[in-house]
Amino acid sequence: MATSLITNIKQLVNVREQWPVLRGKELADLPCIHNAFLLIEDDTIVSYGTMEELAKTNRALPAETIDATGKMVLPTWCDSHTHLVFAASRESEFIDKLKGLSYAEIAARGGGILNSARKLNEATEEELFNLAWGRLEELIQLGTGAIEIKSGYGLTVEGELKMLRVIKKLRGRSTVTIKATFLGAHTYPMEYKEDHSGYIDLIIQQMLPVIAREQLADYIDVFCETGFFSPEETALICKAGMQYGLKPKIHANQLNLSGGVQTGIALGAVSVDHLETMDEPAINALAGSSTIGTLLPTAAFFLRMPFQPARALIDAGCAIALASDFNPGSSPSGNMNGVVNMSCIQMKMLPEEAINAATLNGAWAMECADKLGSISVGKKASLILTKPVPSLAYIPYSFGSNLIEKVMIGGQWQ
Ligand code: NIG
Ligand code: FE
Repeated sequence: MATSLITNIKQLVNVREQWPVLRGKELADLPCIHNAFLLIEDDTIVSYGTMEELAKTNRALPAETIDATGKMVLPTWCDSHTHLVFAASRESEFIDKLKGLSYAEIAARGGGILNSARKLNEATEEELFNLAWGRLEELIQLGTGAIEIKSGYGLTVEGELKMLRVIKKLRGRSTVTIKATFLGAHTYPMEYKEDHSGYIDLIIQQMLPVIAREQLADYIDVFCETGFFSPEETALICKAGMQYGLKPKIHANQLNLSGGVQTGIALGAVSVDHLETMDEPAINALAGSSTIGTLLPTAAFFLRMPFQPARALIDAGCAIALASDFNPGSSPSGNMNGVVNMSCIQMKMLPEEAINAATLNGAWAMECADKLGSISVGKKASLILTKPVPSLAYIPYSFGSNLIEKVMIGGQWQ
């Protein structure tokens, strides 16, 4: 049995015997142990406590001991919303936007999601896998230990299945926890612009049965947005997915008060994601539901949208998670450290709230909280070991610095 011991940890962060989803005020409570040890056997956390407690035990200590004097240990980030599989970056659209073109004008020129879809359909499964694998490797070094990945740049039967097969292969080869989401309803392809029911039929009749047969997805997502999928279309597509056991996790209230939040809640969605555009009824509906609100601040930042109203959501008692939305159009970064920084700086989340939302609540938003998201006996040893830091608040405060010394995924240093 491989055993490793980390000693003299300045602060062991998010230590919990129980790990319920955190709502409202609970988000500010981040249980920590100062001057701590952490013991790992194989891929699992087996014990933790203070250094005084360690001195009192008569356990045989393992050969491999890491001295973490001055450093902190956190559970790895759980990034519950990404579009990690894509064929090409879109920095030329970024330049167009800098020169004044709007998102709608870029889309009208065949840019945006349709641009990514064209390139994805031209790429081979192997090319897509290699690109996504490279991104995943980078994200692991940045502390991500669990990630949800969506399809949605195929928009054809072959393209969507190709994306989902790439995600399945990533899941088979990587030691990080990966969840797959079918987002065939990301936008209407050109040829279905005037034939919504034709595309919805394609999703329901031709994509979903194969996805279910090959077990290619855990969740179903729809971009519920003005000019994309209406609340009624969203419900129709999600209900069809639910027949195959796919749970909804939907894009809601990004650009408009689209009704996406209420639609997701009515469907019993695991999460409603984005939430840049919220009013009181949407906030209250979320607070009164068991659906998690996933905030994607780097997408708001990149599109220069107002940030999500994190304080109002927390005050209302909502359960909120933080995720990167990594994608080539609206958030070309999957760096969760940046998401945590930005949440504090721009949305006034407290460091404790942001860390809880990016770890435990992120794990809940992708249904892996039984294995990840906190330092708990029996959970997977997926950890961030920081460089020496003066305090916990220093982590979101010192934006732009990489404070991660090493990352452990399932008991293995990466
Ligand atoms: O989550 N909102 C829809 N989808 C992506 C962006 C899509 C794109 O521009 O490629 C998002 O922001
Ligand atoms: Fe997204």
